[in-house]
Amino acid sequence: MPEIKRIMMNVKPITGFSKLNKRDKLDLVASYFEDTDNAIKELQTYWHADKQKQQLFDEFSENTISNFFFPYGVAPNMIINGRRYIVPMVIEESSVIAAASSSAKFWSDRGGFHAKIISTDKIGQVHFIWKGQPDLLKAHMPRIKERLMHKSKYITERMEKRGGGIKDIELIDMTYELENYYQLKATFETVNSMGANFINSCLEEFATQLKNYLNEDDEFVNGDKDCSIIMAILSNYTPSCLVEVYVECDIEDLRNGDHDLEPEEFAWKFEKAAQIAQIDTYRATTHNKGIFNGIDAVALATGNDFRAIEACGHTYAARSGKYRSLTKATIKNGKFKYTLRIPLALGTVGGLTSLHPLAKRSLELLGNPSAEELMMIVAATGLANNFGALKSLTTKGIQQGHMKMHLFNILNQHNATQEEKKLATEFFKDKVVSFQLVSEFIQDIRKSL
Ligand code: MEV
Repeated sequence: MPEIKRIMMNVKPITGFSKLNKRDKLDLVASYFEDTDNAIKELQTYWHADKQKQQLFDEFSENTISNFFFPYGVAPNMIINGRRYIVPMVIEESSVIAAASSSAKFWSDRGGFHAKIISTDKIGQVHFIWKGQPDLLKAHMPRIKERLMHKSKYITERMEKRGGGIKDIELIDMTYELENYYQLKATFETVNSMGANFINSCLEEFATQLKNYLNEDDEFVNGDKDCSIIMAILSNYTPSCLVEVYVECDIEDLRNGDHDLEPEEFAWKFEKAAQIAQIDTYRATTHNKGIFNGIDAVALATGNDFRAIEACGHTYAARSGKYRSLTKATIKNGKFKYTLRIPLALGTVGGLTSLHPLAKRSLELLGNPSAEELMMIVAATGLANNFGALKSLTTKGIQQGHMKMHLFNILNQHNATQEEKKLATEFFKDKVVSFQLVSEFIQDIRKSL
């Protein structure tokens, strides 16, 4: 990789970059490319023509020099609890929206997706070191809690009006893990917002008030008053912000034209595939990745934090001490049922959901759902993608459908014209797609023209 090496070796320390204006930042970065002028032009091509709109994007993040486009598509025909949705998805992987759409269609003829919210608690922690007697702190906890609740009223008042707020604050003694280490573990209800800012503001207030309490109360003497706050931050692990979604039908109804397996055999193979993902960590990781294909795509399209969602989902998948799949298949009394249970901390107000114009549009397309409704939509899309993957894997394999979608990516890498794309689509209709074969095909037709 000589090109990359050259750039890496020539990068000198840069000071004050964030203070440069956008154009100067772009010029500076572009100077590291071999074709500086072209790089500037190319990066500028992706600036929004409307200056005001571009400014909005510039302000989302520091050091913006351009925008990075991803396809914005939809999976129609998603029926959840009897209601039909057109689900917006932002994803670059060719087959994801196709898989979600095809599963949505498949289940729309079989009762759709059934979803329910199990709980909506969010968690935050104040981590601190305190050297006094644990029993003293424990005895004071009811009064400390009262004070923290009371002193953070100025933060919680608006949230309480919307039906949320602080649900509980517990003292967790972690001294068996780390000397003198305790936590305040707080539980929050943040209604339709993801709640990160609200939770973190409350936690920082708790930290201040905890220190004040220990300082002011007479029962805490000398060293008892010293409390080192290490940090105050929400936890992205929200096992009690949980949604469950399932699909179900008679085994006989699993028959469809996609493959030639008998319904019983298909159900049996599918159940085995789901069981393997429960017991084998290597398979579980890929299986869950297929779920997150759908989940991340809707999270992105609706302006939600997909990193938080992924981190939480994977931790939840490992809650038994071993990383397992998030789904479960059952065959009972002639019925096939497939269930996904997943924690999803989502918001439909605040943050990017109201700032990003397309996130706003996505929510509008979904009928401006509450956070709970969005949890069900996102989970159903995850299940749809995973069902689609398992259906392909246990029947005709994944490559056939995958490579068909990939054909266009390969053609684009060869700058294929519309006419060439048409010819290639026709040619590969009944053939296995590979990079090599597509390249040869393009070369051949270009020679013959
Ligand atoms: C590809 O993005 C996702 C799959 O690998 C998921 C799976 O194997 O279940 C197809």
